[in-house]
Amino acid sequence: MDKQTNNSNPTQLSSITSELIAGYWRLQSWGVSTQALIAFIEQHLALGISTVDHAWIYQSEAIFGRALKQAPELREQLQIISKCGIKPPGNSSLHAQRTPHYDSRGQTIIDSCEQSLRDLNTDHLDILLLHRPDYLMPADEVASAFNQLKDEGKVKHFGVSNFNRNQFEWLQSVVDVPLITNQIEYSPWQLNALDSGVFEQCQAANVSVMAWSCLGGGELLNGESEKSIRLITTLKEVAEEIGADGIEQVVYAWVLHHPCNIIPLLGSSKIERYASATKALQLQLNHEQWYSIWQASVGHSVA
Ligand SMILES: NC(=O)c1ccc[n+]([C@@H]2O[C@H](COP(=O)([O-])OP(=O)(O)OC[C@H]3O[C@@H](n4cnc5c(N)ncnc54)[C@H](OP(=O)(O)O)[C@@H]3O)[C@@H](O)[C@H]2O)c1
Repeated sequence: MDKQTNNSNPTQLSSITSELIAGYWRLQSWGVSTQALIAFIEQHLALGISTVDHAWIYQSEAIFGRALKQAPELREQLQIISKCGIKPPGNSSLHAQRTPHYDSRGQTIIDSCEQSLRDLNTDHLDILLLHRPDYLMPADEVASAFNQLKDEGKVKHFGVSNFNRNQFEWLQSVVDVPLITNQIEYSPWQLNALDSGVFEQCQAANVSVMAWSCLGGGELLNGESEKSIRLITTLKEVAEEIGADGIEQVVYAWVLHHPCNIIPLLGSSKIERYASATKALQLQLNHEQWYSIWQASVGHSVA
């Protein structure tokens, strides 16, 4: 396949996922019963949030899988993302013997994906991401593993997470499948992506970005540092100007305002916070409001 054609016209992420994604990183800490989890999934589906984000390393997939086993009709209503490539210490082939490390060798990708499928009680993932750039990445093995998983029907689409632009471009030049997304940290709290070149590279390649920790893991809303106070004050001002119900809606509207087709991941355990986030899809910031939030984050103006 012509990689250039492949790069310039990948599958549109928005045709695969919902406009907001339910992140299940913290699921283990929620302490919910299977029945309560099924109700939570049904409730976010009713809000139009049908894509769920997992990773083998989150240790949340088996909990989620119990819900899918008990309510198998949910599976076809969901798009499931999982990630592979981080080995924490432990005692299986997916663990490090001594030192936690990144591992994107072909067999590790396949073993991790198959473990995710077993844990999640599903026969396929909609999207599989390499969780972190592995400094020792054997790109040809990644290409073979992705091809095998696609040919076997175990994964429909592939992408990466936390890659810089060079790492993304290098991997895309080697793998046959289009990399349809780069899932990165981006929020008014964490602005690195604005200057790293990732957004420009994704726009040039027509690749959508997924943004994790849009609320800074809650820090953005509850923090007491000077930066938090500046941000909260400005977010409240903008909330009033645009008629938002809460400052987290302004945060999501700020993330969505970037021209890079960003899809925010939500991390809350509370369905009312999901419902609130969906209202952000209707809110519009203007450029000045966007920059006032940027200014509150960096602590100086553009001039
Ligand atoms: N690819 C990666 O490397 C990577 C890294 C991190 C995360 N992720 C993905 O991104 C998802 C979202 O990340 P995140 O969990 O850090 O997202 P987040 O939305 O920034 O943070 C969620 C946390 O903020 C709290 N929170 C939400 N709304 C709040 C509010 N109005 N007031 C106070 N606290 C509030 C939540 O508590 P409540 O539960 O009480 O609402 C939860 O503990 C994860 O689940 C995971 O799927 C990916």
